[in-house]
Amino acid sequence: MTSITPFPTERTVVLTGAASARGIGRAAADRLASEGWSIAILDINAEDASAAAAEIGSNRAVKAIGVGADVSDAASVDRAITEIEGALPPIVALANLAGISSPTPFMETTVEEWDKVFAINMRGSFIVSQRVLKGMIERKLGRIVSISSISAQRGGGTYSKVAYSASKAGIIGFTRALAREVGEFGVTVNAIAPGPIDTDIMGGTLSEDRKAQMSEGIMMGRVGSREEVAALIAFLLGPDAGYITAATYDINGGLQVS
Ligand SMILES: NC(=O)c1ccc[n+]([C@@H]2O[C@H](COP(=O)([O-])OP(=O)(O)OC[C@H]3O[C@@H](n4cnc5c(N)ncnc54)[C@H](O)[C@@H]3O)[C@@H](O)[C@H]2O)c1
Repeated sequence: MTSITPFPTERTVVLTGAASARGIGRAAADRLASEGWSIAILDINAEDASAAAAEIGSNRAVKAIGVGADVSDAASVDRAITEIEGALPPIVALANLAGISSPTPFMETTVEEWDKVFAINMRGSFIVSQRVLKGMIERKLGRIVSISSISAQRGGGTYSKVAYSASKAGIIGFTRALAREVGEFGVTVNAIAPGPIDTDIMGGTLSEDRKAQMSEGIMMGRVGSREEVAALIAFLLGPDAGYITAATYDINGGLQVS
């Protein structure tokens, strides 16, 4: 039988894709910092990652670093996580949030674009999870949340098309199978599947007109906010979520069944 490893007071969360100013990752980093976590932002954009970490660290009075790395590149991720492990308390949680959209219709999608979408959205989650899991398994404590999308469940219908939907569907199988392997080490693995959220990933900042258009068919009558998604991520990574694993949480204002 597995025993429960208590959460250490000093603990780090690694968030990939948390550098962009209006993104879900940045909001999640801020939320987790407000709950006392040390913050490690790992993003392809090194400059924005450092700036975001500096701002969150000083606003929330927590330790925070930003490191430049490409999640699709194992050597780059290894360097980044080694730096984080040397600078901050033990990594207890990981949020796999780095991702790119892909609005190209299927018949126009090239193999290069397909591979790039999968390399970042799917392979990146594998590479970063495997790297941080070494320490989590040793310490018998860990929380991993990866970001899927309603696009995986409904087959597009928002902005991105087949390559994106397929890569985000992969996250759900990845989550369930990984949860099965690491549960005995006290590590939970979950996915979240947001509907349209007010960030810049769908071809730039959403205009009021686009938001109104996207709201049609959403039970709550609006797109979601990044803070709402951040709150769900923080809960699933937190100490109270130790018996939730292999789950995919919808956060879509009801769009999935409308
Ligand atoms: N906004 C939505 O409606 C929505 C809905 C469902 C799922 N998602 C997912 O949420 C995640 C965050 O998206 P967002 O809306 O905050 O968009 P965003 O564009 O603000 O954030 C994406 C982040 O990923 C980083 N990134 C891109 N390629 C990278 C790489 N190779 N290595 C490391 N970092 C990389 C970017 O620099 C950026 O900071 C994405 O995975 C996205 O697919 C978004």
